Amino acid sequence: MPKAQDLSEFYPTPNLCQSGAVQMTVTVPACAFIYTDWALIETQFDPDQLHHKETVFTIGNGYLGTRGSFEEGYPRALPATLIHGVFDDVPVVYTELANCPDWLLLSVILNGERFRLDQGEILAYERRLDLRSGLLSRSVRWRSPSGSTVDLNFERFASLADEHALGLRCQISSLNFEGLIEVQASLNGYPENQGFNHWEQVGQGKTDPGGIWLQVRTRNSRIELGMAARLTLLGTESAIEVTNVPGYPTLTTAFQMAPGQTITVDKAVTVFTSRQVEAPAQTAQAKLAELPAYTDLFKANEHAWDTVWRQSDVVIEGDISAQLAIRYNLFQLMICAPRHDDKVSIAAKTLSGFGYRGHVFWDTEIFILPFFIYSQPALARNLLTYRYYMLDGARRKAKDSGYKGAMFAWESANTGDEVTPRWALPTDPYGADIRIWCRDREIHISADIPYAVWRYWQMTGDDAWMRDYGAEIILDTAVFWISRVELNTKDERYEIREVIGADEYHEHDVSNNAFTNRMVQWHLEKAILVYDWLHSQFPQNAAQLQEKLQLTSKQRSRWQDIVNNLWIPYDPSTGLIEQYEGFFDLEDINLADYEPRSQSMQDILGMEGASQRQVLKQPDVLMLLYLMRESQDFPYSLDILEKNWNYYAPRTDITYGSSLGPAMHAILASDLGQSEEAYERFMQAAMVDLENVRGNAGSGIHAASCGGLWQALVFGFGGVQLTPNGPVATPHLPPSWNRLKFKLHWRGYWHEFDLRPEGKGDSH
Ligand code: BGC
Repeated sequence: MPKAQDLSEFYPTPNLCQSGAVQMTVTVPACAFIYTDWALIETQFDPDQLHHKETVFTIGNGYLGTRGSFEEGYPRALPATLIHGVFDDVPVVYTELANCPDWLLLSVILNGERFRLDQGEILAYERRLDLRSGLLSRSVRWRSPSGSTVDLNFERFASLADEHALGLRCQISSLNFEGLIEVQASLNGYPENQGFNHWEQVGQGKTDPGGIWLQVRTRNSRIELGMAARLTLLGTESAIEVTNVPGYPTLTTAFQMAPGQTITVDKAVTVFTSRQVEAPAQTAQAKLAELPAYTDLFKANEHAWDTVWRQSDVVIEGDISAQLAIRYNLFQLMICAPRHDDKVSIAAKTLSGFGYRGHVFWDTEIFILPFFIYSQPALARNLLTYRYYMLDGARRKAKDSGYKGAMFAWESANTGDEVTPRWALPTDPYGADIRIWCRDREIHISADIPYAVWRYWQMTGDDAWMRDYGAEIILDTAVFWISRVELNTKDERYEIREVIGADEYHEHDVSNNAFTNRMVQWHLEKAILVYDWLHSQFPQNAAQLQEKLQLTSKQRSRWQDIVNNLWIPYDPSTGLIEQYEGFFDLEDINLADYEPRSQSMQDILGMEGASQRQVLKQPDVLMLLYLMRESQDFPYSLDILEKNWNYYAPRTDITYGSSLGPAMHAILASDLGQSEEAYERFMQAAMVDLENVRGNAGSGIHAASCGGLWQALVFGFGGVQLTPNGPVATPHLPPSWNRLKFKLHWRGYWHEFDLRPEGKGDSH
């Protein structure tokens, strides 16, 4: 077993495809957060939690995300502004979201003493994220080393009303300070992805009137970015100077202050890239010139948030941590969901950190998408349309692997080509490189995406989108499966060999993985329906697609044949589904024997050791049962669920395996009436980032867990099932909850649910 390198340089998430490639030790820090119904409040500054808190306090607007780094900057900080689609080449992992110029920088200098939290004395401190408006604020009472005391109130937001506009405010109040305050506000054109700089400087200068602009270009992908900024003072008048340090344009102003006086400095910033406009620097300047004052900009943002929350809010009464946590998790999804761009999608770590390099996984379609389908279907459509635009990449991948049709990338970026790294490198100079097999074998994604397409269509009735986009996704991936399945002539059945299922602890000799095989079978069942629907409803489109994909009625019969004969390792005598052929022959394990522990089972046993035992990183058979539960399709039944739960749940590394697991277990435990277990798993998912439960929140938000959490609320505790007349709830709320309220958009209508304990739920 090779000793793994700390991949933080190139691949900084411990939860790598094969998380055994990185040692993960979990410490659960004291978080010092206060949770209110709409605000997350930090009451102490803890330099040791810098990265975790930067992730937690990420703000954004669906166009960009900005980590919660401080305006004054710290040497160990990881400030980042990530913009959808701004990818650039990088060794080993092919491409990554390039960290964009830092717009936050603002220094306050009191008679030559620069405000910093690690100098002088912090007399009072509070940082607050207001989820209702997306406003991040910080109030600090600071005594400088020489004894000057001031109150500093910082605020920032990324406007949801106008995604190219960003606002930052610093209010300075003097308690005993008398003298000169200098404020320096910059744009940093040298942002780094942990040591790697993607940008070439193209230009910078002074805007008319009195602001600054910066233009940079990614080194390889040649994406240009323009940013512009201006400062406005309230409470004093003073000249604003422009200093054009190369790559670092800065606005400086200085004014006298006396005790009792308050002065406000507003920094307004605009940003565009060549993905939207031809001349981003000019557009950013023109936009800046017409940008309203800070308070008006904020009002418009507040209004936009109000509309969004009216569609998406979830009310929990009786459990303030759960209430805040669900809003927080939904907030993090909403700030990274592209609103006006359907050629990008939500990455596994959103736009909040460097983990997984901004790559998109099945996390989006299976875990995140349902929230958007049921609350903001237009955003769900954007996310799925992204996959349509990635089809060419998926076709290249299929061709390169010797298959037909479209084979989606396990990790996807801006072309749809596979960007999962092939290798992870060991720290031990004599150790062997570690091959990452997900790119070759974790092919269930080519059924997961069609599953999501179908789900979107069923929930929205969006026939036009299905005709123009969805059908091609479903059909060309179905073509891929024809070339990927193998006919076992001895047993007269189709098989799918050498895969990785949802559980990534097993990646060698995994054939006929129940999850993969049943998802493929389900996919082909739907492909036939879509094929027939298109022919009957839109014959012209059907003919065009038939020609483009070279479909024949022969293929349709092959799909049917595969549907009829694809092997699912299910034993009706026990009701057990075998995770894959031979899984039950592996050495069994009792996870309790390893308690207490703070590491994943793969870290403890090694990659090889885990793969030789019946231990799962995340639900696999149970994941399948969850996905088949909505339509009550084979093999879902409560009885089969119970039998398989009893087998697989105790063998799943639910706390330290994958963050995708706990929310799914919460739903299934809830179905089985295990309310304590359901609540424990729900809170584990709810707090994964807020309380850094897994110790790796610093590399970004666990987006799949956020989406899974919403599903756990609605389908688990709410017990929502879809009937031909719409969604109906059978609630089983955790004991402390007095109320669970949410609404679902289903086929053009809103359905409101206001659920109370003891099955007193009501759906309208
Ligand atoms: C999980 C995958 C997931 C990926 C990105 C891995 O650790 O096993 O299922 O897609 O992380 O979140």
